[in-house]
Amino acid sequence: MKGIVFTEFLELVEEKFGLETVEQIIEQSNLESKGVYTAVGTYKFAEMVSLLTNLSNLTKITPEVLLKTYGLHFFDVLVQNYGSIIASYKDPMELLSSVDKHIHVEVRKLYPDAELPRFQIIEQTDDKLVLIYNSSRSLYAFAIGLIEGSFRYYDETATVNYELLKEDGSSVKFEIIKK
Ligand code: HEM
Repeated sequence: MKGIVFTEFLELVEEKFGLETVEQIIEQSNLESKGVYTAVGTYKFAEMVSLLTNLSNLTKITPEVLLKTYGLHFFDVLVQNYGSIIASYKDPMELLSSVDKHIHVEVRKLYPDAELPRFQIIEQTDDKLVLIYNSSRSLYAFAIGLIEGSFRYYDETATVNYELLKEDGSSVKFEIIKK
């Protein structure tokens, strides 16, 4: 997993829960990296799972809620760091239907070692998009946050329904309906 996902995560944890919480979850997580991340480095996905699990235990907030909140915030990080990619889309529906075929393809060129999900388009109209998320990392709640973040960025709103196609969350159907 790319370092930017860790650095921004720990920054948000510090902002919401304080530096002590950051230090506590790093200590509890037994990390190979020792919790020292650079944005362009690559680290084991298992480290994110440990940090998230320990944060969830400490705050009593479910990993799903934490990930969704982080996804919402991460969209703003993407705007700051990859603004030119996002600027090529006129609205969130167009952007979301291009993640798999364009956006993550560009990301892969920048970072050949990126671990990216797949999004299969099932249905697409002006105000409805049905996607199937597939990833062994089961970060579907992070995806929901990113989807909501993209609507917020364009000053639009949507209803996002989801259905786990596999119990472990590695395959999830999203139904995005523009309001
Ligand atoms: C300019 C826009 C975007 C850029 C530059 C971008 C880039 C990235 C990067 C760098 C990662 C980390 C890969 C790794 O850690 O190895 C990632 C992961 C991810 N991206 Fe994107 N992304 C963008 C938009 C989106 C959007 C709009 C969605 C939601 C539909 C999305 C869904 C995800 C998910 C769910 C992951 C986590 C990995 C997984 O689930 O397997 N991305 N993306």
